[in-house]
Amino acid sequence: MFTVLVANPKGGAGKTTIATSLAAYLAGKRQRVVILDRDRQRSAARWLARRPRGFPEVRGALPDTDAKIIRDYAPQWLVIDAPAGIHGAELAELVKAADAVLVPVSTSTFDFEATADFLSELATLKPVKDGKRAVAIVGSKVDGRTVAASDLDEFLSPLSLDVISHVRDSQLYVHAARDGLSIFDLPRSRAEEAWSDWPPIFHWLQQRVAAKAAHGHH
Ligand SMILES: Nc1ncnc2c1ncn2[C@@H]1O[C@H](COP(=O)(O)OP(=O)(O)OP(=O)(O)O)[C@@H](O)[C@H]1O
Ligand SMILES: [Mg+2]
Repeated sequence: MFTVLVANPKGGAGKTTIATSLAAYLAGKRQRVVILDRDRQRSAARWLARRPRGFPEVRGALPDTDAKIIRDYAPQWLVIDAPAGIHGAELAELVKAADAVLVPVSTSTFDFEATADFLSELATLKPVKDGKRAVAIVGSKVDGRTVAASDLDEFLSPLSLDVISHVRDSQLYVHAARDGLSIFDLPRSRAEEAWSDWPPIFHWLQQRVAAKAAHGHH
C-alpha cells in the first residue's frame, strides 16, 4: 500500500479536491483505493456518499474504521485528506503514516507566512529530514502560465521543494465534486484540458512508488 497525504493547514487550499481527484483517477486505473477522511467537516466522506454507482469504486474510511477497511480491502493506495489547521502531533502522525506528501498551495488563499511556517514545520519532522518522505507542492487553482504561478515558484525556490504541477482554476472541479465525481470521471471532450495538469503529479508519485519498492520506507 502506498499512502499519499494531502495536507496544508490553510482552509480552502484545495486538499479535498486534490485528494478526491487523485483517488478517482487511481480507481479509474483499476487500483484499489481508500480515501481516509481525517477532516471533521467530512467533505471527502460526503463526496464519496454522493458518488454514483457505475463509476470507478473508491472506498472511504474514517479515523475509527480505517484499520479494518485497510485490512479487509487491502488497497494499493491510501489517500489521506487532512484537515485545515493541521500541525504538531497530528501532522507528525500523518506524515509518519504517509509515503509521500502533497501540499496544495492555492494562490487565491495564499498566505506567505502561514505557508512558510507549515513548510518549515514539515521540514523539521524526522522522516522528512531523513529524506524518507518525499514532499511536493501542487499549485492549486492557478494557471501555470500566470504571474501568480511564477510568484509561487519564486517563493518556493529557496526551499528546494518541487512544484510538480499547477492545477488550474476550473469550474469542472466544482461541478464534478457536487455530483460525487472528479474531472477524471467526466468525458474527454469536457475535461481533457483539465486532465493535462495531472500527468506530472502521477509521474512524481510513480517515481516515489518505484523508490519505495527499491528501498522500502518504514
Ligand atoms: N482547481 C480548482 N478549480 C476551481 N475550484 C476549486 C479547485 N480546487 C478547489 N476548488 C474549490 O475551492 C474550494 C476549496 O477547495 P477544497 O475543499 O478542495 O479545499 P480544502 O483545502 O479541502 O478546504 P478545507 O481546508 O476547508 O478542507 C471548494 O469550493 C472547491 O470546489
Ligand atoms: Mg477539505
